[in-house]
Amino acid sequence: MAVTAHPKLDAKRLRADFPIFDQNINGKPLAYLDSAVTAQKPRQMIEAMSEFYETSYGNVHRGVYALSERATAAFEGARQKIRALINAPDAREVIFTRNATEGLNLVAYAWGLTNLGPGDLVVVTELEHHSNYVPWQYVAKRTGAEFRMIPIGESGELELGALDEIARDGQVKIVANNLVSNALGTINPVGALASWAHEQGAIMVVDAAQAAPHRKVDVQALGCDFVALSAHKMCGPSGVGVVWGRRELLEAMEPFNLGGHMIRKVEFEETTWGDLPHKFEAGTSPIAEAVGFGAAIDYLTEIGFDAIERHEHELAGYALGRLEELPWIELYGPPADRRAGIVAFNVTGVHPHDVAQVLDFDGVAIRAGHHCCQPLMRKLGVAATNRASFYLYTIPEEIDRLVDGLHKVKKSLG
Ligand SMILES: Cc1ncc(COP(=O)(O)O)c(C=O)c1O
Repeated sequence: MAVTAHPKLDAKRLRADFPIFDQNINGKPLAYLDSAVTAQKPRQMIEAMSEFYETSYGNVHRGVYALSERATAAFEGARQKIRALINAPDAREVIFTRNATEGLNLVAYAWGLTNLGPGDLVVVTELEHHSNYVPWQYVAKRTGAEFRMIPIGESGELELGALDEIARDGQVKIVANNLVSNALGTINPVGALASWAHEQGAIMVVDAAQAAPHRKVDVQALGCDFVALSAHKMCGPSGVGVVWGRRELLEAMEPFNLGGHMIRKVEFEETTWGDLPHKFEAGTSPIAEAVGFGAAIDYLTEIGFDAIERHEHELAGYALGRLEELPWIELYGPPADRRAGIVAFNVTGVHPHDVAQVLDFDGVAIRAGHHCCQPLMRKLGVAATNRASFYLYTIPEEIDRLVDGLHKVKKSLG
């Protein structure tokens, strides 16, 4: 009989890969519960970047000498790893950016400014991070298009029943949504939204910044047109991300940034653009950062995204269970089986910043604020929340320390 193996992730063992955990914070072992803002870095990724700098660093696509060729091979090798990770049909569709935010701006400016006008609708959701909200609001204003928002219900999930009414208001041209909400952890029905977008004749833009670290993002299975993500949330370095786009769309688009490397020919009268991906990669690229991103992908792939996702679901379930026992905690977002490893809450009567500060005295790091989601905060009727977020190196004992710390908060401030 065939047995399906479900390898479990050993978070305690994996922690040894992360030098940051070798220290105490305020005299206590670091409990890093803020991976949604940025993930910690494994030694394997750090060493890959150091080795690249020490042995192979040069500019890419520039020199004809050995070092530049070696650097180019490493840089393009990283692009290939990203292509494989997201199942993009062609590596030329994978554009290096500084981060997910820049990728989303690239689409907003280079597609939106050309293709939007009065009578068109740009549709986002109430769950968006500002990076997938403000660029769309801005290009809608610039072009005379209307800006619409798909609302969420009580559990922090999208109300797809609102779609028909939205479509009655004009010609839907863009639908933009995150696959996983950074503020509530909600896993959004991006595939269904992409189908709806295409029925309307619109493009579907997916912000996968929060999804890509935790689950396999397959751009073809999602049926979307653009996907943006950041390396730093995936155990990779800061300063690099990618935006993937369907080739025919990217080819038809105007460039986003102008300058060196993105041109074919420059003359006084006119400049013509280079081929993909170079057309969208003006200036010197984040070279070593791309190599580090590739090493991070190797690291995550070896652990396995299924194992990472399962580990986070277990932690989210455990954390929600422990927090639900505390009547003075208000929880936000869907049940554990419909969310990633992110738990948002407030302690009744205590400002989230004070909560986070008290926890920090015990070495527990969580986020407090609006999480770049002010429209969502308005919906929840709060200025801010606390957020604990988990990753492959998070262990249940850290959640216990969070709960112990919250008891202290309640005792001293509540
Ligand atoms: C859902 C989501 N989208 C976009 C971003 C922006 O990512 P970056 O700051 O790396 O561009 C974030 C970062 O928190 C995020 O969580």
